[in-house]
Amino acid sequence: MELSEAIEKRRSIRKFKSDPVPDEHIMALIESARLAPSGCNAQPWRFKIVKDSKTRKKLEEAAHNQSFIAQAPVVIVCCADVSGYLEGSESGIQDLGKIGAIEDRMVNIICADINESKKMDISEIGPRIAVNVAIAVEHMVLRALDFDLGTCWIRALEEGKVSEIFGWDENIYVVALLPLGYPAEDPPARKRFETMDLLL
Ligand SMILES: Cc1cc2nc3c(=O)[nH]c(=O)nc-3n(C[C@H](O)[C@H](O)[C@H](O)COP(=O)(O)O)c2cc1C
Repeated sequence: MELSEAIEKRRSIRKFKSDPVPDEHIMALIESARLAPSGCNAQPWRFKIVKDSKTRKKLEEAAHNQSFIAQAPVVIVCCADVSGYLEGSESGIQDLGKIGAIEDRMVNIICADINESKKMDISEIGPRIAVNVAIAVEHMVLRALDFDLGTCWIRALEEGKVSEIFGWDENIYVVALLPLGYPAEDPPARKRFETMDLLL
């Protein structure tokens, strides 16, 4: 599917068929996430693929009981690896400097910024790096259309409750849930502002 078509056709899907999703299609989505851009090329996204119905139900509960979440045959838990980010961003920016993609002056500025982040409370870092994960998630959302799969971003959730399900500590920051499956609805396009209204 053309990217422009996927962007136009995508909808948040909140009704799913129970048909299983082939593993190769799930992994194609993860591959799309892998190719996303990230600050310092740190690639802090990590994903937990959940098919087990009991765990899906627990995820639904952690997301204020939004009842369609467990209905999806797969839920991808989209996270940021905080400690991995701190290491990855430093080596990532050095690499970009070495190959000349980023000037040395900027490498120094960004490294100083990373060192400041290291002094922060770990709980503050997850939300700051979540933007990287969001880009990777949207890659998956759009790629899903190639397989006639539907998704819905879920951010209304209690991060701590999701972490508790998997026994994660604060090094893993939960950014979103992504229920995934074959749509059992064909929702109309939702309201959007006019293009010209977006310009400041
Ligand atoms: C960051 C983010 C968080 C969202 N969280 C939720 C959510 O928790 N529950 C839900 O039903 N939809 C959620 N949505 C979906 C939005 O409601 C939806 O994108 C919006 O209404 C536009 O509809 P469309 O996606 O069909 O174009 C979220 C979307 C984004 C991008």
